[in-house]
Amino acid sequence: MSGRTQNVNNTRFNAEAAAWDSNPGHIRSSENALKSILHHVPDFTEGKGKDIDVLEIGCGTGLLSFMLAPHVRSLVGVDTAEGMISAFNAKIGALPNPETANLAAVNVLLEDADDVHVQGAAAALATRRGDSRASEHAPHRFDLVVSHLTLHHIPSLPAILETMFQSLKPGGWIALTDFEDFGSDALFFHPKSKREGVERHGIKRDEIEMMIKGTGFENVKVATAFTFSKDVDAEDRLPERNLDFPFLICLGQKA
Ligand SMILES: C[S@@+](CC[C@H](N)C(=O)[O-])C[C@H]1O[C@@H](n2cnc3c(N)ncnc32)[C@H](O)[C@@H]1O
Repeated sequence: MSGRTQNVNNTRFNAEAAAWDSNPGHIRSSENALKSILHHVPDFTEGKGKDIDVLEIGCGTGLLSFMLAPHVRSLVGVDTAEGMISAFNAKIGALPNPETANLAAVNVLLEDADDVHVQGAAAALATRRGDSRASEHAPHRFDLVVSHLTLHHIPSLPAILETMFQSLKPGGWIALTDFEDFGSDALFFHPKSKREGVERHGIKRDEIEMMIKGTGFENVKVATAFTFSKDVDAEDRLPERNLDFPFLICLGQKA
């Protein structure tokens, strides 16, 4: 990512972090993403969710992370905006027993599966749950990688898919949700004031499917996850209006 794009994104998300969870749209879209993940990922449909360790790219304040955590063994979130991670950590601190939480988040641009921050967080969660052989499992690898509403900010999709692939155990899955580039109206998902730092206006169905296959994933499937209705601003000659944005779930398994 160019340093400038990253700075634009970090500045925007640091500023939005404190109020992020008070936007009902943010909560609604994470609830829909959770529903789709639980519906599509075999670990959940086969009742094995509580055995799995999850990595989340672009966890933000943890909306999806805190919804997913009760369904899994552990979750490590990463996010490039320090403000988002502070909000995530404040929510951990507000839990009745923060020291037993099965989730953690780190402020890092993840480009390497062996990243020390991610490895440290995964090891700490393993130790916390009483896994005395935690250090023998290093480097830690995950059973599932999720990412919600973040792919459209990431400049190189092949690069992040490769990092996800390396971060998974054999047999592990990706389940990535983001809005679809369904045509020219996809531009209006972001108001004009938030378009700088947006790398692409949604995910192209055929393109992401090809990239996931090209990374080496098997059992690849890209499906409509849900439709998200959103009021969009008046712009140029177009009035303020409500638009339906399709969201995709992008699935693949590391053999
Ligand atoms: C639209 S927000 C979504 C946050 C969260 N997933 C949610 O749905 O509430 C996008 C998030 O991606 C983060 N982000 C942007 N580029 C990233 C990257 N390369 N790696 C990790 N996080 C990134 C931003 O800091 C921001 O928190």
